Amino acid sequence: MPPSPGPRLLELRAVTMQFGGVTALGEVDLHVDQGEIAGLIGPNGAGKTTVFNVVTGVFHPTAGEIEFDGKSIVGKKRYQVTQAGVARTFQNIRLFPDMTALENVMVGADAHHGTSVPGAMLRLPRHRSEERHGRARAAELLELMGIPHRAEETARNLPYGDQRRVEIARALATDPKLLLLDEPAAGFNPREKRSLSDLIRKVRDSGYTILLIEHDMGLVMNICDRISVLDFGRKIAEGVPAEIQADERVINAYLGVVADA
Ligand SMILES: Nc1ncnc2c1ncn2[C@@H]1O[C@H](COP(=O)(O)OP(=O)(O)OP(=O)(O)O)[C@@H](O)[C@H]1O
Ligand SMILES: [Mg+2]
Repeated sequence: MPPSPGPRLLELRAVTMQFGGVTALGEVDLHVDQGEIAGLIGPNGAGKTTVFNVVTGVFHPTAGEIEFDGKSIVGKKRYQVTQAGVARTFQNIRLFPDMTALENVMVGADAHHGTSVPGAMLRLPRHRSEERHGRARAAELLELMGIPHRAEETARNLPYGDQRRVEIARALATDPKLLLLDEPAAGFNPREKRSLSDLIRKVRDSGYTILLIEHDMGLVMNICDRISVLDFGRKIAEGVPAEIQADERVINAYLGVVADA
């Protein structure tokens, strides 16, 4: 755990998100401080991905306030939230399957610089120097992810775990302050999960702040500084891992279910 929390980076206040009659989020308060690995857990359908969607501008919340880096980001478009410094990965891998690992990461950098994705795919860089910079940065990020040797491989041919790593690299290519990871260890075996834990710590230690959605409790308890728990769209607990593991409501809503599974 870091010695003291950094300044507030992300803050949700009383955020509500309704889809028709479904309250996916009900007056949720949530925050992430700079430099921490924050965890977001809860049963299926609890509203975890919806938190990412309202933060990144995929949905505009029905009510409530969301501040990033001291400014309101409610109502901003996705690219504006990216430019403000928030990047994410998705629960289901969304790489361009026919592009190489390096090209996929470069698309992330282009999103940051404002080059269009079709332009990037057609290799129509606005400026050659930008492309050179993007390429070098993408290679660095693949190195950080431990897969520099995969740079020229086509995404669809990569092992599943490496595809997940490329996704994280692509998110980092937008040069974010905050990285949102949606179940990055889904489908991993125990060895891959350990390796991913090390990787997430390494990413944090290299200067990023992380908000992690994850169902694997071993992984969450092991790497998160602080954890928030959602159940039916409501936050039912928040605290350091030991507090969460001992919380009656969390055990009843979630941990008990996981232990029984
Ligand atoms: N675009 C949408 N339209 C309608 N309902 C939605 C939409 N997105 C999410 N929901 C609903 O909101 C609730 C929360 O969904 P969400 O995907 O955020 O859950 P989650 O905690 O990420 O679950 P999981 O662990 O299964 O990924 C669910 O009832 C879901 O059906
Ligand atoms: Mg989800």
